[in-house]
Amino acid sequence: MPDTAFSTLETARLRLRRVRESDVAAFVAYRSQPETAHFQSWEAPFPEAEARAFLAEMADAHPDTPGQWFQFAIASREDDMLVGDVALFTAGDDPGKVELGYTLDARATGKGLAGEAIMAVLAYAFEQRGKHLVEAWTDARHSRSLALLARLGFQRPDSPPRRGFYKGEWCEDIHHTMSAQDWALRQV
Ligand SMILES: CC(C)(COP(=O)(O)OP(=O)(O)OC[C@H]1O[C@@H](n2cnc3c(N)ncnc32)[C@H](O)[C@@H]1OP(=O)(O)O)[C@@H](O)C(=O)NCCC(=O)NCCS
Repeated sequence: MPDTAFSTLETARLRLRRVRESDVAAFVAYRSQPETAHFQSWEAPFPEAEARAFLAEMADAHPDTPGQWFQFAIASREDDMLVGDVALFTAGDDPGKVELGYTLDARATGKGLAGEAIMAVLAYAFEQRGKHLVEAWTDARHSRSLALLARLGFQRPDSPPRRGFYKGEWCEDIHHTMSAQDWALRQV
């Protein structure tokens, strides 16, 4: 069921909030970084018109809407500036299952901020929204993303990689999962 009351999630250094029209410059800037786009679906530079349309679409969206992605802005608690985004897709056929996506401005990496933002979203998914499974897929060559998911406690189930032809080459995405039970156990 859509969380129409959602406003913010707070962590020690971050505020996860709805995206705003005023985020457009920061959003275009980090999505235009070649290293940030490398393992993602978009090409750098990221068109400003596309960013504006995306932010406008998200303004009317709610987290936990079956069959839809919701993008949470990752903002610094200090100045509320956008440093990245983290997204959840609620499965249409099983609303207890969500997929995770995440992107950080390259200038904000190496500080544990992606992990901090994802932990807040995992707590939201499992504890506030009662999800039973969070899934993530990451390119087999994306060592930073693989390290991040492992550090957060995601499992790598024995499922085959998802193969796809992206940006002119065949790629393999590795399946990662965290169940509600994994989440509860890692709190102990
Ligand atoms: C994947 C991505 C989110 C990883 O970001 P990240 O900053 O490396 O991730 P973390 O938040 O886990 O930070 C870990 C790093 O911060 C360091 N760190 C510093 N302070 C820390 C703290 N308080 N807590 C944890 N780690 C800390 C760690 O040592 C580690 O550094 P290292 O990479 O030199 O080993 C980022 O590279 C990214 O957005 N890439 C582009 C988009 C993308 O590809 N998304 C994934 C698609 S599947």
